[in-house]
Amino acid sequence: MQISFTLNGRPTTVEVEPATLVAELLREQLNLTGTHIGCDTSQCGACVVHLDGLPVKSCTLLAPALDGATLLTIEGLQGAPGSNRMHPMQEAFREHHGLQCGFCTPGMLMTAVALATEKPDLTEADVRHGLEGNICRCTGYQNIVVSVMAGAAAMNAAKGE
Ligand code: FES
Ligand code: FES
Repeated sequence: MQISFTLNGRPTTVEVEPATLVAELLREQLNLTGTHIGCDTSQCGACVVHLDGLPVKSCTLLAPALDGATLLTIEGLQGAPGSNRMHPMQEAFREHHGLQCGFCTPGMLMTAVALATEKPDLTEADVRHGLEGNICRCTGYQNIVVSVMAGAAAMNAAKGE
């Protein structure tokens, strides 16, 4: 079947099988390999993308659900339009050592941006709760939490510019 959706700001039409998962579609058909697959069972969060602005685990979402929707992947996350800068949340992860091997990082970033967008006055407890569905085997989480707090503050500051 054919589906049409907006992918990282661009109209996109693709042929998919009804049982194709969004994570497979992104990685195998569209060559967007920034969305990682860790567990493939909706537990690790490495595959998080934004569907119509909300974070979803793309390893358990069927591609036909994308028809007519807007999808944002890690490849579409960026700083101010027209700039070559990273998104403030990405800058914060770099600055505060929020990653080591980086495998969980795309999903962490997409979840973190969604959290900060939904609740601009995020507390540390909100961050820890909000990241419960994202597993990291490397960092011990503390630097991720610090990064998300800093990234959320930077997102708020950017709104006022
Ligand atoms: Fe989707 Fe782990 S690969 S949650
Ligand atoms: Fe390695 Fe999170 S940085 S899994």
